[in-house]
Amino acid sequence: MSVTIIDGKATAKRLRDETGKQVAAFIEQTGTTPHLVVILVGEDAASQVYVRNKEKACLAAGMRSTVHRLAAETSQAELLELIGKLNTDPQVHGILVQLPLPKQIEEQAILDAISPMKDVDAFHPENVGLLAQGRPRFLPCTPAGCLQLIQQVCPDTSGKHAVILGRSEIVGKPMGLLLIQRGVDATVTICHSRTRNLADMTSQADILIAAIGKANFVTEQMVKPGAIVIDVGINRVDGKLVGDVDYQNVAHIAGAITPVPGGVGPMTIANLLKNALTAAQLQTNQSAR
Ligand code: GUN
Repeated sequence: MSVTIIDGKATAKRLRDETGKQVAAFIEQTGTTPHLVVILVGEDAASQVYVRNKEKACLAAGMRSTVHRLAAETSQAELLELIGKLNTDPQVHGILVQLPLPKQIEEQAILDAISPMKDVDAFHPENVGLLAQGRPRFLPCTPAGCLQLIQQVCPDTSGKHAVILGRSEIVGKPMGLLLIQRGVDATVTICHSRTRNLADMTSQADILIAAIGKANFVTEQMVKPGAIVIDVGINRVDGKLVGDVDYQNVAHIAGAITPVPGGVGPMTIANLLKNALTAAQLQTNQSAR
């Protein structure tokens, strides 16, 4: 059996190009350029790269991008004050605070403070709630990217058993919510650090999504032959990027697999751009979908 390597880089480019065309049409109709503001606190090396990539992608799609780079010692009150200003600024359509934040800042307090209409990450409790109720305003960027890659190799996910490794607020939990949406209709199992007999669970997956942040954690013994394997992990080992899946070995048994890099990673930014356009549409009373 030969494995399909799912090309996230090419898929993300198509999605970014499509959004770019929609941005051009939106500007023509409204005279307004969608504007995403990204806030980066501190000097985390990986975050700096992610933020630069978000900025570049925004500009390439014809959107306006502003990045606020704040000192690592910034207080929670100072960050909340900036978010308050951006929330009420009609020139700003989307706001993203890059995570993780320095220790002195409580992450949830910051995510709660972002206007839900500008919350392009879909991390605000109102947007999480809307997704849980099956009427999302914004789709969470990384889970949406995973789903698009799954649908490329499996257009009909109805009744398929998806097993998710990891229950994070950014990936695992919203991924489960997306996969049980009507029209997607997968059966979902979410596994985490307390799950018993993990390999028994993962071996039942038609679709296996690894999002735990442990390098090469998923081995071929944990994967059903022919399964679709989506690797969300980005781990640095000896200076090299590796996923949560032992790619070389799992690729022999999987039906389809995403590489790291070039799999899920580029899809996150592509969906962020889409959300920034949706935010601009919502704030100018244009149809958002
Ligand atoms: N840090 C790692 N992934 C993400 C993400 O999707 N959004 C934000 N805001 N920060 C992150």
